[in-house]
Amino acid sequence: MSLTPPTVTDNRTTLVEGPAAGLLRQTSTSHIGLRVPDVPAAAAFYERVLGLVRHAELADGGARLGWGGGHHVVDLLPGDPGLDHIAFEVRDPGGLTGVEKRLRSAGLTVSALDESYLDSLDDTAGSAHGLVCTDPDGNTVQFHGPVRRPGEHAADTARRPVKYQHVTLSTADLVAMTDFYVGVVGFRISDQLADGGFAWLRSDSDHHTLAVVRTGRGGGLDHYSYDLAEWADFKSWCDRLTDDGVDVVWGPGRHGPGNNLFLFFDDPAGNHVELSAEMEKFHDDRVDYRPRLWEPVPRSVNLWGGQLANWRHTSEGS
Ligand SMILES: [Fe+2]
Repeated sequence: MSLTPPTVTDNRTTLVEGPAAGLLRQTSTSHIGLRVPDVPAAAAFYERVLGLVRHAELADGGARLGWGGGHHVVDLLPGDPGLDHIAFEVRDPGGLTGVEKRLRSAGLTVSALDESYLDSLDDTAGSAHGLVCTDPDGNTVQFHGPVRRPGEHAADTARRPVKYQHVTLSTADLVAMTDFYVGVVGFRISDQLADGGFAWLRSDSDHHTLAVVRTGRGGGLDHYSYDLAEWADFKSWCDRLTDDGVDVVWGPGRHGPGNNLFLFFDDPAGNHVELSAEMEKFHDDRVDYRPRLWEPVPRSVNLWGGQLANWRHTSEGS
């Protein structure tokens, strides 16, 4: 798929928004599926450290966790560590139908989402169903209609995140991935690194609900992120993680793209988990944004001194 060739001049790559860019404006990250070698250990970690609770036992020995009410957040599935699937909740009127139509027009295979994923279907928000497809890296991507989420935003945010907010995918072909998510699915580009090594994509008013980063590892998960309410929570979380024997592996810091505060730690399977707050809001109904090009230097992704994540080996680290 090559819908929108980037503009390349003097080692600067400007990604181009494809024809569908901006068709999704009320779409958020929904849930994530992770394959882990030890489901009980991972589930115990997510319960103890992140305040998630068991919503269901899955047939294959997996565990489904959420905030205790409404739609689930994480599926932990037995297997070698890796990303099983990502999912987005499409609240745009007609949005799900549009996504399906564009995927099929692009010649991509689309199938119906297993009803078990629609565990909190919001009947009041109109008919909802779900579809599954595969992105250019082979990641399984689900899109579904509105679901209820009463468990979100009910946290003591010093002890439990507010909600699951974004996912960042590793890729060897960032142009193909942005072609798919922007040119077909309907996200927009908020920011990118000027060398074309990182792009932050939005599908609602948050600066990014999805990001893609070029790495030497190829496709899969780079990290995923939960929202905290405010800066003061970061101190409490750093102290709590320390008491729990969980190392903070990156941050606290502030990203340039998105302007969000961040800290990172790893789950027992080695997945990088971010806690974030203060993400920049975009108001596409009132102003016309142009994707910004950030210099590919460490201080772009970490304004406070430029220290990089120890697993990240993109050009901003060289
Ligand atoms: Fe992030």
